[in-house]
Amino acid sequence: MTLFQAANNKTSSQDSIEKRLEIQNLLDTNLIVSSRPGIDVIEGLNRTAKSIPVRYFYDNRGSELFEEICELPEYYLTRTEMSILKQYASEIAQSTGICELVELGSGSSTKTRVLLDAYNQLGYPLYYVPIDVSAGILESSARQLLADYPSLQVHALAGTYELALAQLQPSQLPSRMICFIGSTLGNLNSQECDAFFSHITATLQLGEYFLLGIDLQKPKDLLEAAYNDSQGVTAAFNLNMLEHLNWRFDGNFDTTQFEHWAFYNEAEHQIELHLRSLRSQTVELRALNFTVHFDEGETIFTEISRKFDLNTIQQQLNAKGLVTQKVWTDSNRWFGLLLCQMQA
Ligand code: AVJ
Repeated sequence: MTLFQAANNKTSSQDSIEKRLEIQNLLDTNLIVSSRPGIDVIEGLNRTAKSIPVRYFYDNRGSELFEEICELPEYYLTRTEMSILKQYASEIAQSTGICELVELGSGSSTKTRVLLDAYNQLGYPLYYVPIDVSAGILESSARQLLADYPSLQVHALAGTYELALAQLQPSQLPSRMICFIGSTLGNLNSQECDAFFSHITATLQLGEYFLLGIDLQKPKDLLEAAYNDSQGVTAAFNLNMLEHLNWRFDGNFDTTQFEHWAFYNEAEHQIELHLRSLRSQTVELRALNFTVHFDEGETIFTEISRKFDLNTIQQQLNAKGLVTQKVWTDSNRWFGLLLCQMQA
């Protein structure tokens, strides 16, 4: 191959990537999200029981730290779900037939590749709609996927789940599967979870699919180890939320004056993440014109990570018209993957 041909080849594969890629940013155009940035932070920190919305974990550094968490020996979630996906991906592809894959919180799309491979092997054309709040990771992983899967088409949506689901066009292929894996559902309390399922059913046509990956209830010591890893990555992830607020809102949180605190709330079946103030201190977020005081020992609630029971969740899904077709778990029953179909 001459240099000229090589250059030409490169251009044509690049062309083909552009032709198969569409990216829509719902965050820039949506006034509800951008009109009063930080109002949710002020609200959370003004409460008697202080809290910060969970999405503030995910700036670039936070996304990196989360990828590191997924590799930790104590953090069994990612690895266990991956093993279930690997084992049953072809069964999933066969059950659904040709379909359009919509993924909520796609992130790096690493686990999704297992599904894409399975559809690919059956010779199905692939139409993938990744949805994520982080536009950067969305675009870079879409480009990587297009380079690796020559028959793939990607329509990426940068935005919140609500915004993205609300503006999905009717599916292009005969059926659609909405995929919500990684137990991100655990971040929603039971009311939010209920509202979320309603959004899903409002988006699906009869006969279409919902694939849900959830972390299951298990002994406290295993759970607490997963959120208090020995290398301190989860602690860094939790504290990074304050760094994120510092750069985003010109703040002066001193992360050495807070500590990570995670425990399993057995009554509620949920891991809770908090940040505890090590002394009495006042913090300012200058861009928000906001000052907040912390007593020594006072905590900020940063995350819930609910742990589910397979029967209960199936009943909740059923009540919404999402009928479970298949349930898969690993041999320890640590993680569950449910394939549901939308019925009248
Ligand atoms: C991405 C919500 C599934 O709850 O396990 C990991 C986030 N927080 N370690 C989880 C998280 C602390 C994770 N989810």
